[in-house]
Amino acid sequence: MSDEFLMKNGEKQMNNIAIKVENLVKKFGKGENEVTVINGADFTLKKGEFAALVAPSGAGKTTLLMMIGCVLEPTSGRIEIGGEVVYDNKWTVKDDRALRRKKLGFIFQAHYLIPFLNVEENVSLLPYENGEPEKVVKPRVKGLLDYLGVGDKLKNMPSELSGGQNQRVAIARALANNPSIILADEPTAALDTKRSVDVVKLLRKIAKEKEVTIIMVTHDDRLLPYCDKVLTIVDKKVEVKEQLEGVII
Ligand SMILES: Nc1ncnc2c1ncn2[C@@H]1O[C@H](COP(=O)(O)OP(=O)(O)O)[C@@H](O)[C@H]1O
Ligand SMILES: [Mg+2]
Repeated sequence: MSDEFLMKNGEKQMNNIAIKVENLVKKFGKGENEVTVINGADFTLKKGEFAALVAPSGAGKTTLLMMIGCVLEPTSGRIEIGGEVVYDNKWTVKDDRALRRKKLGFIFQAHYLIPFLNVEENVSLLPYENGEPEKVVKPRVKGLLDYLGVGDKLKNMPSELSGGQNQRVAIARALANNPSIILADEPTAALDTKRSVDVVKLLRKIAKEKEVTIIMVTHDDRLLPYCDKVLTIVDKKVEVKEQLEGVII
């Protein structure tokens, strides 16, 4: 094998990595009040992988997600997002807001749609903030809402939609900037089982069809069969279980 081939192959593998976390540590507080929440997390997720993050309340799931989302500063370690080192014992990215706006999408338990903007306006906010023109944004937003089964709600206000519909709009909003990674913190916690399964199937479809890497925090074991990997936090470290068998596609 030529060096060139090896290099190209290596590059390809590197490009395939969406999230790489190395020896990540997060402590809160100082002195006597210092608490270590994450103590040396190490894991990698590839492009288009759909991972669940399951651990007891207070184990550090939101903390981990917010560090990967460049919202919360780690204490030490290394984070790579889409081949770019964003944290190496300190932030290495110049503009974390720009990184979030361009590469990341967030979904929360509550939809947090802006109540006085209609569905289309809510979903269009971020692309417009990114400076994208209306002729590009409008069809993309319409397409996303159609894709998520709420295309007919374009001009409706959030208050006119059901919980499940609003969560679909929130997913559309998370996708509106064409992110490579979606971080979802208990996105189905407020939904009943059927709607939870619908949303998770949709997230899986998005991961596979749009090659978006998704980490979804959940307490619901019934949703795990839809995920490629299950991450857990054990002894303040992240353990990864590959779900080779039995993934529902
Ligand atoms: N800003 C903070 N200051 C101090 N402690 C915090 C802060 N945020 C979270 N924690 C603590 O870190 C631990 C993990 O919290 P969190 O990541 O929210 O857990 P989870 O999402 O798994 O329920 C908890 O013990 C929590 O009290
Ligand atoms: Mg949490």
